Amino acid sequence: MPMIKLPGIIDPHVHLREPGQTHKEDWGSGTMSALAGGITLVLAMPNTKPPIFDAATLDLALSAARSKARCDYAQFLGAGPGNADWNLHIGLPQRSAGLKMYLDSTFGELRLDDMSLWRPHFEHWPLSLPIVAHSESRSMAAAILVAAIHNRPVHIAHISLKEEVLLIKAARERGIKVTCEVAPHHLFLSNDDIPTINQGHPGRGEVRPRLASKEDVEALWENLDVIDCFASDHAPHTLAEKDGDNPPPGFPGLETMLSLLLTAVDDGRLTMDDLLSRMVINPRRIFNLPEQPETWLEVDENASYEIRASEMHSRCGWTPFEGWKVKGRLRKVVLRGKTAFEDGKVLVEAGYGKNVRARD
Ligand code: NCD
Ligand code: ZN
Repeated sequence: MPMIKLPGIIDPHVHLREPGQTHKEDWGSGTMSALAGGITLVLAMPNTKPPIFDAATLDLALSAARSKARCDYAQFLGAGPGNADWNLHIGLPQRSAGLKMYLDSTFGELRLDDMSLWRPHFEHWPLSLPIVAHSESRSMAAAILVAAIHNRPVHIAHISLKEEVLLIKAARERGIKVTCEVAPHHLFLSNDDIPTINQGHPGRGEVRPRLASKEDVEALWENLDVIDCFASDHAPHTLAEKDGDNPPPGFPGLETMLSLLLTAVDDGRLTMDDLLSRMVINPRRIFNLPEQPETWLEVDENASYEIRASEMHSRCGWTPFEGWKVKGRLRKVVLRGKTAFEDGKVLVEAGYGKNVRARD
């Protein structure tokens, strides 16, 4: 069996739903899902219930993580209308993955509707720690401008449009410090796929940013050099919620990201170096993350299989890629010297995961 060895993958954008919505996912199920997808380090988003926006709520998320996480992690703080005085909270930002700013409509309560609320965050957040913006289209252009005015880097979450990738390219050519990530569903799915995903349930295909046109998808592939990271934007909601009234937007993605991208390598759409720079090297640099010693994946390059939600560890119970044929199967994950996943089973106990921002 031709087994290849890869470094552990970093996923800088996951929603683990704890505190508050553990029926969708929690730190245990979410980090098992990560390991089953070859991901050894996750950065968790702050749009939980309550949202993570101060010391007390950060402690709430981190204490759940400490007892339940099975892979390594860090937790984002969220920018809200009333918490931009980061300079007054010595040491708090340093305990987080970074600052997440929701500049567009999204799932949850954290949202900065008014542009005058943006600048105090850019001013007071420590320069040594990342700022990530969920901002689509015109608000993305505005976010890049505000970051440039404050002369600090900004990372744009899940870009999906041709106009976005081209604007980031132009900004970078002029020396503006902007980086970005793309989620696999925006690389492998377009709005033409929505009827297949929906199976008659219009909530299933809902995701933010929405699935885009074929032209947008092609532009992302054509401008892969502009894309710094791949990130799952794992956003689990149960099928009952997706099929009910007011379906929440979001796709799960932790367990499908690596195999979809390995399949693209097999198809010649990107190289293994392209994959590793966007899943290991660039996220480590952009988010200032430590190396994980004695950590690797073993992948059977030639094993083909069909994606099945029923085989997954996420609590949400579905995937937009159900039935897709992929090539490249993860057999084993070794995390800090211990076999964490092998042949479909997570082998490390709850609490094995380490907070990479903890100071000990
Ligand atoms: C995310 C979620 O469910 O938390 N949903 C999504 O469609 N991506 C929210 C978000 O990332 O905006
Ligand atoms: Zn997200």
